[in-house]
Amino acid sequence: MDRINIQASSDYDVLIGAGLIDSCGTHIRECLIRAQKALIVSDTNVAPLYLARVKSSLEREGFSVSEFVFEAGEEKKNIESIAGMWAVMAGEEFTRTDIVVSLGGGVATDMGGFAAATFLRGIKVVQIPTSLLAMADAAIGGKTGIDLPQGKNLAGAFHQPSMVIEDTDCLTTLSPETFTEGMAEVIKYAFIMDPELYETLSGIASEGRAMTLQNDIDTVTKILRCCVKDKAEVITEDEHDNGRRQILNYGHTVGHVIERNSNFTLAHGVCVAKGMGIITDACLKAGLTTEETARSIKDLIKAYGLPTEDPITAKDAVSGAMNDKKKRGEKISVILVNEIGKAEIKKMTPEEFTEFLR
Ligand SMILES: NC(=O)c1ccc[n+]([C@@H]2O[C@H](COP(=O)([O-])OP(=O)(O)OC[C@H]3O[C@@H](n4cnc5c(N)ncnc54)[C@H](O)[C@@H]3O)[C@@H](O)[C@H]2O)c1
Ligand SMILES: [Zn+2]
Repeated sequence: MDRINIQASSDYDVLIGAGLIDSCGTHIRECLIRAQKALIVSDTNVAPLYLARVKSSLEREGFSVSEFVFEAGEEKKNIESIAGMWAVMAGEEFTRTDIVVSLGGGVATDMGGFAAATFLRGIKVVQIPTSLLAMADAAIGGKTGIDLPQGKNLAGAFHQPSMVIEDTDCLTTLSPETFTEGMAEVIKYAFIMDPELYETLSGIASEGRAMTLQNDIDTVTKILRCCVKDKAEVITEDEHDNGRRQILNYGHTVGHVIERNSNFTLAHGVCVAKGMGIITDACLKAGLTTEETARSIKDLIKAYGLPTEDPITAKDAVSGAMNDKKKRGEKISVILVNEIGKAEIKKMTPEEFTEFLR
């Protein structure tokens, strides 16, 4: 088992290893000595696979366990789901020392975190991410929230977890499509800050193993460790997204607009991949990167079965981005990769951004 410490406003560990689901209660008990009640938040795909095991591990440590299971998918990442979680916790008379345990993909970890951040003005949360995307990114760093009809993640809170438990065995039950979507965020770290990870990922691709990576959990675990360390470094430097943390939004400014325009029928990771491809084309056209770098970026995305293009117009992308929370005042922070492993945050007016994308 690996243990990676995150130093944010509160310190916590990310545990990574095979089979951790069955010992999660023991690890949770170590860091939350006084907790008596736990609400497990999960979705209809993940609950049948793992909830009973999490529950019995918690019960062995003396927790009294409640459940809130929502219908899987981004559509349920809304206030009704959160209200449902609040109602269970209120009904079970949870106190400030009781906890939420999120079990699932990024939707479950974002919502479990938000329910914990808001119930009784804040109780503790433990994240047990089960998708690659959530293990590499969403479950770490304390960003929690829900979508509004007006846009993704528009309501939320910063609320760091007390522990993150990543059981790599869970990756074997992901659909190949969901695994691939998660690879978009993994590849993102290589581009924005981790040239070594880029070498690893492109090595796997050149050996023709990119599309079967899910069958090689040992290699995935090594890759995951790099992503968690990268995210830990960024969060330690800028927990509240005022500076360097914004580089994690690489591909997301345009990606979020594509995701919303598809009415969330396109997966987050797929849209991020498209967003990275579109920004790369724009960087090349503006002379901000070389042909070689642009080709390397797009080839790696494609090698892992992800798209790099979308028919969205520059005008639609920018007007959508202006509604997105990632804008700061009149300007949009656009994340550029000029060279593999180095990201730059460039503030652009809507007019400049439109011109850049055209
Ligand atoms: N908070 C953050 O910093 C952050 C960062 C990136 C993404 N996100 C959010 O994460 C969400 C996307 O996460 P996601 O892709 O994990 O979506 P998701 O939670 O919808 O999971 C994807 C699918 O995989 C299923 N699944 C998850 N684990 C499984 C397993 N082990 N076996 C079988 N099926 C499994 C889920 O039921 C779902 O159908 C978005 O809402 C995005 O906004 C948040
Ligand atoms: Zn993302």
